[in-house]
Amino acid sequence: MSDATLRGQRIVGAVTVYKTPDDLAEGLRRAREHGFRRLDVVMPYPIHGIDHLLDRKPSKLGIVALIAGLTGTALAKSFQWWASAIDYPLNIGGKPLFSWQAFMPVTFEFMVLFTAIMTTIGMIAIFNRLPSYNSALLASKFIPELTTDKFGVVIDARDPMFDTETIRSVLGGNGSIGIDLLYAQPERTTPITRTGSPGFVILLAIVAIGAIVTTRIVVRYTGEIPPWNAMKYQSRLNSQAVSPVFADGFGMRRPVEGTVARDHIPYAYANDPEGAGENLVNPIPLTAENLERGKDQYGVYCLPCHGVLGDGRMTLTSAYPKPPTLHSNKVRDWSDGRIYHVIMTGQNAMPSYASQIRETDRWRVIHYVRALQRSRNAPERDVQ
Ligand code: HEC
Repeated sequence: MSDATLRGQRIVGAVTVYKTPDDLAEGLRRAREHGFRRLDVVMPYPIHGIDHLLDRKPSKLGIVALIAGLTGTALAKSFQWWASAIDYPLNIGGKPLFSWQAFMPVTFEFMVLFTAIMTTIGMIAIFNRLPSYNSALLASKFIPELTTDKFGVVIDARDPMFDTETIRSVLGGNGSIGIDLLYAQPERTTPITRTGSPGFVILLAIVAIGAIVTTRIVVRYTGEIPPWNAMKYQSRLNSQAVSPVFADGFGMRRPVEGTVARDHIPYAYANDPEGAGENLVNPIPLTAENLERGKDQYGVYCLPCHGVLGDGRMTLTSAYPKPPTLHSNKVRDWSDGRIYHVIMTGQNAMPSYASQIRETDRWRVIHYVRALQRSRNAPERDVQ
């Protein structure tokens, strides 16, 4: 009668301990030849070829990594697309709003981050089923040796061939230095070491302070060592300083003669308000949609000065010159082109809004200004 049954404990396995990796491999081979299938090994370090002897299938962790990587990629791309093209469209250097090449670095980082986190969690929680606070193996009297310089073959008691006598005869001898039976351990739900113990907290604090000091030193001093100092001491142009590169002493170059920036078509009537008034025609049809957009842009750019109704009641404080009403006969008689001219070049105290409002939106704003004017001066037929 074994000790286990005497103590009323269930046997969950047996471990045979060997001195060298070769003995372990030989023991494994013999165990497999005798038909044992629920085998495992416990070793102080990984040994090549053991997976093969255990007949283990390749880990499925790669699939977890693949799914995590693809998820990270999709999330990063779609978030950047949403942020840059949908939620807050921002024209950067005339590139398309969704410029996938520009979004690649963040996408790559996100893919790596997701893969790393999910692979770690997957390995620990899903494949190794950790944290697990009790293992029959940890209670074995051989565990100190098995974690330093000995090698063990573990046979699970659920193996149909499991029988202590067979194990002794098959795995005993041949370099084995002992066989230990593994007993089911009482359930343990808390870690053996307490993470809240003062020693552990002090250790954490020392590690944290050490990391901070080391980082500080590295960041502070490596920048001065070649080649890492290359960026700091590169030849460059200081602003407001004479450039030694170009004969005229300027660092910045003028654009090539005749250069037209995207969406900045040269304005032909810059000094010719009358010409603008006579020749420019509103190309945007008067529709509810265009009027709505015009109202929106008026609200953003014109309203603070010209007021909600265009009557010059500013929402700004009086520090700014009070603009005239847009309901004057003068402005009502102006053509759309003449108002367009004011938006393009500004007028006295009013600055130009050409760089802030898109070409098509300027005309929409004018439609809205017309609507405001009509609201005060509705012709007879509007009220009938
Ligand atoms: C920063 C304040 C400010 C903003 C914003 C502003 N304006 Fe003006 N605007 C003025 C002032 C001040 C004048 C009077 C300029 C002058 O003395 O000739 C004026 C004049 C005008 C005039 C000519 C009126 C006249 O009787 O000569 C028009 C038309 C006009 N603005 C339209 C607009 C439109 C359209 C917008 C929006 C795109 C706009 N303004 C935005 C301050 C502003």
